[in-house]
Amino acid sequence: MTKLKNDLLLRAAKGEYTERTPVWLMRQAGRILPEYRAVRESLNGFIDLVKNPERAAEVTIQPVDILGVDAAIIFSDILVIPEAMGLPYEMQEKKGPNFPKTIQTAADLQQLKVADAASDLGYVAEAIRITKKELNGRVPLIGFAGAPFTIFTYMVEGSGSKTFSKARKMMYQNPTLSHQLLQMITDSTILYLKEQIKAGADIVQIFDSWAGILPPQQYEEFGLRYISQICDAIQEVPKTVFAKGAFFARKSIANLACDVIGLDWNMDAKESRQLIGEQKTLQGNLDPCVLYAPYDVIRKETKQMIDDFGKHRHIANLGHGVYPDIEPDKVKCFIEAVKEFSQK
Ligand code: CP3
Repeated sequence: MTKLKNDLLLRAAKGEYTERTPVWLMRQAGRILPEYRAVRESLNGFIDLVKNPERAAEVTIQPVDILGVDAAIIFSDILVIPEAMGLPYEMQEKKGPNFPKTIQTAADLQQLKVADAASDLGYVAEAIRITKKELNGRVPLIGFAGAPFTIFTYMVEGSGSKTFSKARKMMYQNPTLSHQLLQMITDSTILYLKEQIKAGADIVQIFDSWAGILPPQQYEEFGLRYISQICDAIQEVPKTVFAKGAFFARKSIANLACDVIGLDWNMDAKESRQLIGEQKTLQGNLDPCVLYAPYDVIRKETKQMIDDFGKHRHIANLGHGVYPDIEPDKVKCFIEAVKEFSQK
């Protein structure tokens, strides 16, 4: 294996000394870069790109070359898991994902299987192998998956939602079916993350994008219980848990067998550190909308974030994915400000 030239992210994840704070952005691969859109337009849509390992590797590396981030994140989507379980999705231009079939009944569940990660998701492993080879040790590569609860909402709702009331209705009316589906997603996700790690992922992140819609007790039962299984099953590399909106669960998340906890911009850095303790690295959490501001404001807010988190056990990021209409130069300003202000 090639030794990493820049392993700041991995050292920060493990709580080791770093000369400065590492920085990357959720959703850095794609959307904001004209170079990404050019590749995307040369193919037949988003899913074609996800399933094309050479081109997926190319757009994975673009932000490392163009933006100067300290990590690459493999270009894919969290929705490859439902597809591998037997529930295909479409990506509708400007509207987002849509599932022609959804899960409503026990009979629907019968149609699904635990994903055979090695064969059904072999294209992701292949993209990871190519990316690792082309990165040649410049920066670590982040693998990822959706958290079971977030994947569950897409499989039941069929798309994004304001209220998620279909998914939430199932949890109240048919908790047994809900748990069966969550368990199948969890088993698939563990196999999938292990394939990503075998292919070369240096760290993995679990995205629980819709964690914040549940009351705390329900999030323990339908959300964290399954993330906990994933954290226990993955021992090979450091793990990051990002539960967007779940400010109420920070103490529970601190008890998971993970190394890094992602924070969104509603979560105060110092309060989070107090709730979580010293044993985890915190990742985040600049408001993504700060990148709409003038350059001097971006620098000032970034410095404030660095000061709030301190220079130890912090990975700088936004509090959620970068928005598609942010100018790449504003992103560069954020990245350069982190590097400048966090220097020891
Ligand atoms: O972080 C990265 O740069 C790696 C690539 C990545 C994508 N999706 C590519 C993508 C990652 C990590 C994801 C995760 C993902 N996908 C999440 C969790 C993170 C989050 O933002 O909360 C979720 C909820 C999804 C589901 C999804 N995929 C939605 C809702 C959409 C449509 C709206 C959007 O985000 O643009 C997608 C499409 C998608 N996934 C795009 C990209 C680059 C845009 C599609 C395009 O290029 O046309």
